[in-house]
Amino acid sequence: MRILSVVGARPQFVKLAPMGKVMGQRGIEHVIVHTGQHYDVAMSDVFFRDLGIPEPDTHLAVGSASHGRQTGAMLAKMDEVLEQHSPDWVLVYGDTNSTIAGALSAVKMHIRVAHLEAGLRSFNRRMPEEHNRIVTDHVADLCLAPTTRALAQLSAEGLAGRTVVVGDVMTDVLHQVHDTVADTDPVLPEPLRGKAFRVATVHRADNTDDPDRLRRLVAALAALDVPTLLLAHPRLRARAAGFGIELQTGTLIPADPLPYPQMVRAVMASEGVITDSGGLQKEAFLLRVPCTTVRAETEWTETVDLGWNVLAPDPDHLASLIERPDPAPTDAAPYGDGQAAGRAVDAIAAHS
Ligand code: UD1
Repeated sequence: MRILSVVGARPQFVKLAPMGKVMGQRGIEHVIVHTGQHYDVAMSDVFFRDLGIPEPDTHLAVGSASHGRQTGAMLAKMDEVLEQHSPDWVLVYGDTNSTIAGALSAVKMHIRVAHLEAGLRSFNRRMPEEHNRIVTDHVADLCLAPTTRALAQLSAEGLAGRTVVVGDVMTDVLHQVHDTVADTDPVLPEPLRGKAFRVATVHRADNTDDPDRLRRLVAALAALDVPTLLLAHPRLRARAAGFGIELQTGTLIPADPLPYPQMVRAVMASEGVITDSGGLQKEAFLLRVPCTTVRAETEWTETVDLGWNVLAPDPDHLASLIERPDPAPTDAAPYGDGQAAGRAVDAIAAHS
């Protein structure tokens, strides 16, 4: 069996790592196609290096553009790649433009599509990720769901017959990386060493692309009691510079994105996480670090129900939500046991 993975953005490299490893163990031929949606060394190459992922077989080098142009550039290049490799399955991950492009190009060539992390919904139709998820789930032949809630959503959309709950593969990676970094020192900018701090990331268009909202968000972070290490995504840097918003202000300490193991270590050492990332909300929960999500909704509702994640839609109320008592301890494991990749590969093999 030959499986072709289409990846392009940072969280997909994290999900690709355990899937690739299990495919190798099972003797499955694995072809990796990198769309080039993320291309900076810190957003792409370091993930391949640190997570032991082989070099991509094909790199489409599409780069940044508007949604239609970026997605279209991937579609235009995928036919030839699929003809060249003729895989049994195309495997797509998560909710990015690379996900929808990989799924659409494969389904139109009658190649079976498996969607990993299927069934997540924010119910916010302004999010590009929401369109990507819905379309990908509906064209996929096999929906690999991370949770029972994702299964319930897919059932509500009539997709239960094509769905298998496998658990969350990001949990697989986190368990492994946690054990390798637990005894190391966190890599932190000088002013934070030995001090209490929080970790923040901001990259969603809803937060970065409106100058008034971004200005209020940065001001709220800068006014917090405890310093915030802001791991600045290129989109955030570009928009802040364009709007004339200074990130190095008050208690805010901007820095470049961290490689995955260092990110995990930094979160472990922190008092809390402030983010609009999907993956980081879950990682904070798995590491039992309180998270505040600067969005009106989340796809990972289990983290909220268990008290470890609080939504903060309005930047003006951020401080009062962040400076809250710690949640009750829990041993709940809604994201599985760290063996999701094995189940996902088994499910693909069983449907072949
Ligand atoms: C994308 C995904 C999002 C995912 C996120 C993880 C979509 C619609 N969104 O958002 O689901 O959570 O990746 O990071 O697919 N840029 C660089 N260097 C890079 C990558 C991006 O400078 O290596 C800049 C460019 O200015 C680009 C902007 O970041 O225009 C946004 O990149 P893009 O790929 O459009 O989306 P993300 O915001 O990263």
